[in-house]
Amino acid sequence: MITMRAWVLDAPGGPEAFHFRELPVPEPVAGQVLIRIRAFGLNRSEWFTRIGDSPDVKLPRVLGIECVGEVEAAPGGEYDKGQRVAAMMGGMGREFDGSYAEFTCVPATNLFPIDTSLGWAELGALPEMLQTTHGSLHTGLGAQAGDTILIRGGTSSIGLATLALAKASGIGVVTTTRSEKKRESLLAAGADEVFVDSGVLVDEVRRHYPEGVDHALDLIGATTLLDSMQCVRPGGVVCMTGILGGSWELENFRPMEHIPSGVRLTCYSGGAADITVEELRRYVKLVETGELTVQNGPVWEFEQLRDAHATMDANTAGGKMVVVVPPGPAR
Ligand SMILES: NC(=O)c1ccc[n+]([C@@H]2O[C@H](COP(=O)([O-])OP(=O)(O)OC[C@H]3O[C@@H](n4cnc5c(N)ncnc54)[C@H](OP(=O)(O)O)[C@@H]3O)[C@@H](O)[C@H]2O)c1
Repeated sequence: MITMRAWVLDAPGGPEAFHFRELPVPEPVAGQVLIRIRAFGLNRSEWFTRIGDSPDVKLPRVLGIECVGEVEAAPGGEYDKGQRVAAMMGGMGREFDGSYAEFTCVPATNLFPIDTSLGWAELGALPEMLQTTHGSLHTGLGAQAGDTILIRGGTSSIGLATLALAKASGIGVVTTTRSEKKRESLLAAGADEVFVDSGVLVDEVRRHYPEGVDHALDLIGATTLLDSMQCVRPGGVVCMTGILGGSWELENFRPMEHIPSGVRLTCYSGGAADITVEELRRYVKLVETGELTVQNGPVWEFEQLRDAHATMDANTAGGKMVVVVPPGPAR
C-alpha cells in the first residue's frame, strides 16, 4: 500500500490538534480525480472547524477546502496525468478528506484546469479567494464600475482580494480595519478611504458619504450587519460573505425596523459552480501579467501547518496564507 503524509484533525483544539500521519493514498473511481497536491490556501472555514465551530464536519478529518496541483489519475478519462489544476469546495475537507495532504481525491466536476507560469505558492493563493471575491462582487453586490463599495473586514484575505479586484474593475473602495496601525497598508493597497471600525461606522460613513455608499460587503457578519445596512443608500446592496465577528445569528431581528427602506440585504455562501473555468483563468492571467496584484500573507512549508494556524489565531497574516507541499511519493 502506498501511503501519503497528511495533517489529521481528530478533535477540536488549538493548532496542536493537527497530527501529522501516514494515510493510504486515496483510490479514485470513475468521475473522481486524484490530485498530487503542490500547494493549498488556508481558509477561515478550516479555522472554524479546528476550533469546534463546524458541527457538520465529522472528525477525524483531513481539512482543507482548496488546493492546486497536478492530476495523478482520472479513471473517467476527463484529464491527462500531469494537467495543472485547482480544486475547491464541493465537500472537500468537510464531507471527504481535503487538501492538508500530499494527495486528495475530488469529483471531476470540482476541477479547474489552469495552465500558468505562476509558481505553486502564487497559484495556491488564488482559487477560493478569487471565487469568493468574484461571487461577492458580482452575484452578491452586483457592483458596477463607478460604484463605491464599503468592505467591512478589509485586512482579511478576502477583504484585500476584493479591494484589488474592485479597483481593477473601476469600483471605488472604502475599507476598514479595527487597527489604526493597518490604515497605511490598506491605503498603499489602493483603498480610497480607510475607516477604523469600532463596530459602529454609520456616523463616519455618512459624514463622508451623506447619501450612503452604493454597496457594502460585510465580512464581519451578524455583529456589524445592522450597522452596515445603515451605511448604504436606498437601492444599494449589503452582502454578508463572512463571519469574522464569530456570530451567525441576528438576535431580535426586526426587518421593518432594521432594514432601511430600499436597501437590499443578501449573502454569498460560495461554491465552485459560482465561477467558471474561463473566469478563473482570466483572473489568474491578470495576476500573471501583473494587472491584478493581490496582497498575500506568509507562505509555509507543509511541516509548518500548526504555525500557519497559530498565525490565524493571532490575526497577523496580512493576506492569504499558503502552504506548499513537496511532491508526494511515486504511485
Ligand atoms: N462565503 C464564502 O464563500 C467565503 C469564502 C471564504 C471566506 N469566507 C469568510 O470570509 C471571512 C474572511 O476570511 P479570510 O480567510 O479572508 O479571513 P482572514 O484573512 O483570516 O481575516 C483576518 C482579519 O480578520 C479581522 N478579524 C479577525 N477577528 C475579527 C473580529 N472578531 N472582528 C472583526 N474583525 C476581525 C482582522 O482584521 P483587523 O485586525 O485588521 O480588524 C484580521 O486581519 C471569514 O469570515 C470567512 O469565513 C467566506
